[in-house]
Amino acid sequence: MAEEAILGYLATSEEIPDSGQFASQHGFQHNDVVNVIKSLHGFRYIDAQDIKRESWVLTDEGKKYAADGSPEVQLFLAVPQEGSISKDELQKKLEPSVFKIGCSQAGKNKWVDMGKQVSRKVQHVEDKVKDLLIRIQKGEALGKDDINSLKARKLIVAQTWKGYSVKKGPNYAPTRKKVATDLTRENLQRGDWKELEFKEYNFNAKGPPAEAGHLHPLLKVKQQLKNIFLQLGFEEMPTNNFVESSFWNFDALFQPQQHPARDSHDTFFLEVPSTTRELPEEYVKLVKRVHESGGYGSRGYMYDWKREEANKNLLRTHTTAVSTRMLYALAKQPFTPKRYFSIDRVFRNESVDRTHLAEFHQIEGLVCDKGLTLGDLIGVLNDFFSRLGMSKLRFKPAYNPYTEPSMEIFSYHEGLKKWVEIGNSGMFRPEMLLPMGFPEDVRVIAWGLSLERPTMILYGVDNIRDLFGHKVDLSLMKRNPICRLGID
Ligand code: PHE
Repeated sequence: MAEEAILGYLATSEEIPDSGQFASQHGFQHNDVVNVIKSLHGFRYIDAQDIKRESWVLTDEGKKYAADGSPEVQLFLAVPQEGSISKDELQKKLEPSVFKIGCSQAGKNKWVDMGKQVSRKVQHVEDKVKDLLIRIQKGEALGKDDINSLKARKLIVAQTWKGYSVKKGPNYAPTRKKVATDLTRENLQRGDWKELEFKEYNFNAKGPPAEAGHLHPLLKVKQQLKNIFLQLGFEEMPTNNFVESSFWNFDALFQPQQHPARDSHDTFFLEVPSTTRELPEEYVKLVKRVHESGGYGSRGYMYDWKREEANKNLLRTHTTAVSTRMLYALAKQPFTPKRYFSIDRVFRNESVDRTHLAEFHQIEGLVCDKGLTLGDLIGVLNDFFSRLGMSKLRFKPAYNPYTEPSMEIFSYHEGLKKWVEIGNSGMFRPEMLLPMGFPEDVRVIAWGLSLERPTMILYGVDNIRDLFGHKVDLSLMKRNPICRLGID
């Protein structure tokens, strides 16, 4: 529409001097006219010259006064025609800013006597400020002094208006020829391709972004962690069973059957099948004994250990269940030192909030060798975490039923400027390792952490539900960087 109007106008007139005027005369939005001018100019139908004009627009404060009147007039009208009003009373009648500005302007104009009591000095006032503001709103030009005084009161600001003046161009025609963008079968059949004008290729145009698969941030960080473990000579453990028996998840780890973590509040138990089919009977006997009466220098927990409790199936609450199975298998072989790791999903019956989900991923590493000490654990942790970009570590004594000593791991977070807990670690207890059949001098150092924690820090996600679960916005995967330099 605007295109026909412009080309049509130029058929009979030399020039469109001002695109803004043209738009308002013909009832178009100026923006639409500008877009058409740019396009017609590109095809040289027209020649367009930039024009710029300084104009004035009202600020928010200016708009308020244009509607409600200037503060000085509002104040003047609030003062009674006869007699006076106390300053406090007057203040109550007006908005605080209107009162403040009104007092100073009306005083300056000598409209009112300002004391404790305020009274009128003149009978009648005119709201010149309001009138000027309305004239600016209408696009009228004002004198220099008026502009300066409104500008000084921050009631108007300058705005640069951009438009065009337009003349015929070398390819001018009263209507634009439609250029063909595609050569179709119909064009060939009809033979009209001979007359058609084809749009030129634009080899500089950007193509649409290619659709491709995207990795979830958790998968990316998981892969980086895998690489770190592999560089350090660790082997990956098979973690492909979410369902585990209580025996492997708890009992074999010397976790007593009354332990609160074994409560259904913390653990998801399976209804079908509710119990495991088989356990290694010889080993079960030894585990029962160590719980009930200890051995290997331990007193045990001194309670009646129940097989039915150990049989119950659950969704594994930690990948340490997998480590335990692996260590049990390892203990059956002639002794060889091993380094194992796993990264996979675990489940806890927790109430979901910003930092907790009922399922998450655990990263776990362990080293099994003769004569290992707590010093080795600290050394391995420093080595592991420094490759994650966390080189300042601190350790705090902690408690796990299956490790002694146990340490929580803290790292100094440069962004948050504080120490944050990043994992848990320890040396597996003899009550766990010796029933498996390991030689007495074999020690296992191990640690675990969640995959979500470092991923949230690395990707700046502060609500875990934005990272994992059914509420995740898929564009998170599309937008995040393909790779980051350094892991932190
Ligand atoms: N299993 C522990 C947890 O779930 C982590 C851990 C692994 C602690 C190995 C010590 C040793 O938090």
